[in-house]
Amino acid sequence: MRIDIITVLPELLKSPFEASILKRAIEAGLVEVHFHNLRDYTTDNYKSIDDTQFGGGAGMVMMVEPIDKCITDLKSQRDYDEVIYMTPDGETLKQGIANQLSMHENIIILCGHYKGVDQRVRDQFITREISIGDYVLSGGELGAAVLCDAVIRLIPGVLGNETSALTDSFQDNLLAPPIYTKPREYKGWKVPELLFSGNFPEIEKWREEQAYERTKKLRPDLLDE
Ligand code: ADE
Repeated sequence: MRIDIITVLPELLKSPFEASILKRAIEAGLVEVHFHNLRDYTTDNYKSIDDTQFGGGAGMVMMVEPIDKCITDLKSQRDYDEVIYMTPDGETLKQGIANQLSMHENIIILCGHYKGVDQRVRDQFITREISIGDYVLSGGELGAAVLCDAVIRLIPGVLGNETSALTDSFQDNLLAPPIYTKPREYKGWKVPELLFSGNFPEIEKWREEQAYERTKKLRPDLLDE
């Protein structure tokens, strides 16, 4: 998979890709992530990427031209499955979206700033608009990092144990059940006996029940979906 991220702040985005699972995925050649600085696509001396709103109103708007140049340049080199715009008024990121995107070959992610982009960018180029939650960030970069993390860990081969992504919270619309490791007892706090029984069908049943109970208590909305 290849991800092209268009941003005015590449330095804000880079560190998540230089550590941990994302770094390993890149080094293993399972994903390529490329950063494109919008200022490299400006034509004026000031390298402007934004301007005031027509019709008046507070806040700057990201201009069409640099974004057009950047996306058109990328599209001339390969086909893209999606051109995603990170914005608080997009559809809320859910596990299902990450699952879908993880199956794509090439995606572009455009990070918004200021008040956002000129509507013509959205009309002409954007195929999907994604928000990471109902709050406003100062730019789309942190949202893009969250989206990339959620997607990249699902690419086959990225996680050591292929089954581990399947048992994550939200796969099946359930939260994950409780988990334990050594020691068996710590300060008198015990691990449930059943987990030592060797009775794997019973353990599996217990985990399913726990996942259901936890979801009912903490996220009942998931059970209605
Ligand atoms: N840009 C600003 N706020 C955002 C959000 N909540 N999700 C995605 N991109 C954003």
